[in-house]
Amino acid sequence: MSYSGVINKYLEYLPFTEGVRPVTLLEGNTPLIEADNLRDELKAPCKIFLKFEGANPTGSFKDRGMTVAITEAVHRNAEAVICASTGNTSASAAAYAAKAGLQAFVILPKGKIAVGKLAQALIYGAKVIEIDGNFDDALRIVREIGEKTNVVIVNSINPFRIEGQKTASFEILETLGSSPTHHSLPVGNAGNITAYWKGYKEWASKKHSSLPKMLGFQAEGSAPIFHGKIIEHPETVATAIRIGNPASWKLAVQALDESKGQINIVTDSEILEAQRVIARTEGIFCEPASASSVAGLRNLLNKRYFTGKDVVVCTLTGNGLKDPDTASRGITPPLTAAPSLSEVLNLMNLN
Ligand code: F0G
Repeated sequence: MSYSGVINKYLEYLPFTEGVRPVTLLEGNTPLIEADNLRDELKAPCKIFLKFEGANPTGSFKDRGMTVAITEAVHRNAEAVICASTGNTSASAAAYAAKAGLQAFVILPKGKIAVGKLAQALIYGAKVIEIDGNFDDALRIVREIGEKTNVVIVNSINPFRIEGQKTASFEILETLGSSPTHHSLPVGNAGNITAYWKGYKEWASKKHSSLPKMLGFQAEGSAPIFHGKIIEHPETVATAIRIGNPASWKLAVQALDESKGQINIVTDSEILEAQRVIARTEGIFCEPASASSVAGLRNLLNKRYFTGKDVVVCTLTGNGLKDPDTASRGITPPLTAAPSLSEVLNLMNLN
């Protein structure tokens, strides 16, 4: 049977009944790539796999949750959906709302959204409202709108989002044939770490698989869970995870405790360096926030945290094409030449 999206694939694990009509863009089924070159580069004793969620239809993992949340919103006869976002949720909500024929409203922190993500929300037809505040302010306003109106919230505080996102764990378990020993991912609003852990636990209880340790990474300037306190003015180059008061804070801590994992911080320069290393060694262009999973892995490797028996999956949450500005800042610009064969050959510097 041809692939028809995460709802049809994992219906038995989702809160829908047979006969549901999924709003889908055929999300999921993303590559899990064994990163041998990266392993050599980092001198890692363990196996490393990269789950490239940038291959989803709108370029991020949000699509897994959005197909479920929007399908449910349609089922409830909603006319409109709303979200606060650092960019990817808004792109995904806008796309799935377009597919479903719903109006999407998105509330964004002004000036802090990567250019590609903003373009996506707009071209998919969302009504975009920028506020002079951060993501946490936007989410507060969205929660209040959810209470006062019939507009359905499609942030990860909507449990259907988490249900959809847990399908990434299922894909990893199916591809590897067993659980990895560790799962590393960036943490922003903390919905995704919650979703992965839920997925791993549900699979374990049905199929008796083992469980990974969850490794969460926050950007140094936006690390409320690591520091155990709300950050009023979060900052980081990884704008996707520029969040000071995550909605799923408690659930993330639960995932970390239950799995005997850990939350840690990575600096902006470690994030950008990891982004370049992933691209150069593995041919995968992920966005800065996504690279936190590998930046964090690298720091743990330096502390000799892993053994030769370990299998680590890092989720690369979003596509680097969404944020070309940040990527271009750190790399060598192109060479230039006159339109002449000899000049070009000269620059090619072949022996
Ligand atoms: N990576 C990317 C690329 C993201 O866009 C996000 C969150 C995360 C990681 C963190 O995931 O929030 O579940 O802990 N982006 C949200 C948004 C907040 O609005 O697009 P999380």
